[in-house]
Amino acid sequence: MDNSPHIPVLLNEVLNAFKNAQNGTFIDCTLGFAGHSFEILKKYPDLELIGIDRDDEALNFSKKKLAPFKERVTLLKGSFSQKIKEIDFNNITAVLADFGVSSLQLDNKERGFSFESKTLDMRMDQRNPFSAIDVVNSYSAQQLEKIFKEFGEIKEAKKVANAICKAREKEKITSSAKLAQIAAQIIKKKGKTHPATLLFQAIRIEVNKELNEIVSLLDTLEEKKPKNGIIALITFHSLEDRLVKQRFKKWAKKCTCPNGIMRCICGNNNNLGVELNKKPITATNEELKINPRSRSAKLRVFKFKG
Ligand SMILES: C[S@@+](CC[C@H](N)C(=O)[O-])C[C@H]1O[C@@H](n2cnc3c(N)ncnc32)[C@H](O)[C@@H]1O
Repeated sequence: MDNSPHIPVLLNEVLNAFKNAQNGTFIDCTLGFAGHSFEILKKYPDLELIGIDRDDEALNFSKKKLAPFKERVTLLKGSFSQKIKEIDFNNITAVLADFGVSSLQLDNKERGFSFESKTLDMRMDQRNPFSAIDVVNSYSAQQLEKIFKEFGEIKEAKKVANAICKAREKEKITSSAKLAQIAAQIIKKKGKTHPATLLFQAIRIEVNKELNEIVSLLDTLEEKKPKNGIIALITFHSLEDRLVKQRFKKWAKKCTCPNGIMRCICGNNNNLGVELNKKPITATNEELKINPRSRSAKLRVFKFKG
């Protein structure tokens, strides 16, 4: 079964990170189409998987794909921020997350993530009652400007927010295509990317509470501190990467003495573990050629102490 609508990014690099966690159970927080999990289960026969996703389409596909590993696999539907709290970490040896949306979610026009979509949706979990149509049609100009600035770092945030409010006075905005058209009139095109790219990113983050999800995951990992656990996290833009980078730095900090102290008195051994790579791992030229989506992927790996 290899008709997957999604190519896993940094696969070799993830498999390499997992060489330090060959027994026990790993959690794949963003199972998607099980691209990573399938290869991990194949390469490391003593590992079991708990796979989480909030998208039914992804879970149904992965259930079939992972059938050969039957008794080694448990699948959970829901947001990883919630599901991970319910897991007993005694036997957990690794945690993987490959944040953001899958290629199928992006490419399936009905899901409303793409610039040509006739719908305005962008929910990863289609049972969630809150979607992009609510954000675009009910947020005030100030609220829109705020999310465009914070989650899209869009220079023209105020102008776009006002243009959306003006357009919806005439008629409710019901398609991503219409939204992309409004954005294209205001936001300058950079290189080959569509002018609405960052606007869509901002709305998607708001709809799916993507950054809160990451913060909550990091909080839970910090609390559970899986012994010798490998944490491998793949991010796709600077807002996500900053959260992971800063948290890993905090976890790796040995000295907790207050700033300005003359001599360390804390023992200089208070780190929760080590960062296995100081710089994020990015895609090789070979991978970039076959999977353009890997262009912005960054993998960071942390190992908790034993
Ligand atoms: C980039 S894809 C993962 C692809 C997967 N690694 C593979 O190789 O097939 C991200 C997946 O994570 C899911 N997802 C994103 N954020 C989530 C969250 N907070 N809770 C649960 N699932 C989430 C999405 O629905 C999507 O299916």
